[in-house]
Amino acid sequence: MSPPSHGSHVSHTVEIVVPEDADLDEAGETIEIEVSPDEFVLAAARGEEIWLPADCQQGWCTTCAARLLRGGVDQSAAKRYYEADEEENLILTCTAKPRSDLRIEVGKHEEMLDHRAEHDKPPGRAKR
Ligand code: FES
Repeated sequence: MSPPSHGSHVSHTVEIVVPEDADLDEAGETIEIEVSPDEFVLAAARGEEIWLPADCQQGWCTTCAARLLRGGVDQSAAKRYYEADEEENLILTCTAKPRSDLRIEVGKHEEMLDHRAEHDKPPGRAKR
């Protein structure tokens, strides 16, 4: 376990928007959780029993992709994350640490795959 946090490690409020068509109990809801600056958003959500989609949990597969609607994240722990992703406000929740309060919309795997393919980045999709 990590040591007790100090004053500078005040946690951030993360609003998670779950789309209506998401395959989750929380579909259509917006959930608010607290995430400390050294914690990943996905793990923090799981700690609250919110089972957001994920696979590798290393910032590799993009299963956990989400859209950043407000705020900023530290994505440096991701194994594969590109400037183009950041410009498009697409994040990988499994390896995203909050740098501020956040609002994110989850369930953006398909969108991320299209985006990566457009930029010729893996995993992308086979060209249609
Ligand atoms: S779960 Fe694989 S990139 Fe996040």
